[in-house]
Amino acid sequence: MEIIVCKDYKSLGEKAATIFAAQVLEKPDCVLGFATGSSPLSTYAHMAKLCDDGIVDYSRVTTFNLDEYYGMDPTEEQSYRKFMDDNLFTKINIKPENTHLLSGLTQDPASECAQYEKDIAAAGGIDIQLLGIGHDGHIGFNEPADDFANDTHLVDLIPMTLEANARFFSSIDEVPKQALSMGIGTIMRARKIVMVVNGAEKAETVKQMIYGPVTPKLPASILQFHQNVTVLLDEAAAAKL
Ligand code: GLP
Repeated sequence: MEIIVCKDYKSLGEKAATIFAAQVLEKPDCVLGFATGSSPLSTYAHMAKLCDDGIVDYSRVTTFNLDEYYGMDPTEEQSYRKFMDDNLFTKINIKPENTHLLSGLTQDPASECAQYEKDIAAAGGIDIQLLGIGHDGHIGFNEPADDFANDTHLVDLIPMTLEANARFFSSIDEVPKQALSMGIGTIMRARKIVMVVNGAEKAETVKQMIYGPVTPKLPASILQFHQNVTVLLDEAAAAKL
């Protein structure tokens, strides 16, 4: 696990975007895995800048996002589809049809999840997966559990996650109680993983992820077993290392 401490959130995003840029330059038809939440915003801002400056061409890139709220209409403000369109996809020259998110409106979650796994495999697998981390150590929406979930699946969100994500909704009661998420296996099959973490409130979780036991009680700890992980931290998130 490579750990890089950046001086602040902006430089962390620049570094992460540079890693993705190198991947696209090396393999213009690469497959990228993306994440939502506050953590990747500075990364997406710099990706957009590199595209705007003519340095990176996303026209042949395919993307798969980690997760989506179950029952969420993609046109709604809080949907992860809307988040990705607003913060990245409309700001780079990617083809909309090459961007994939799970459908929160599916009537058949099991088929939707199975098809997502097939689509990722058919695209050749994910070259780089971007991750944030939840306060409880979740990645994607893989919550602390007794076992690591392998494939894309329907998840029951735990109260800590509902509280953390309530800031995007008018009240906590509005936060969907379930989500569709890539599994731990799906994430671990990515050839490279880049995690971005900022802020003092994640420092203890980061310490446990890196130095603690590998356990499904802290799902991100599984990354200790991945052979190509870069964790980018701002100074506050790295404070307990
Ligand atoms: C959300 C997302 C995760 C994200 C995490 C942290 O619930 N499902 O993919 O990494 O929680 O979010 P944030 O970056 O806003 O702290």
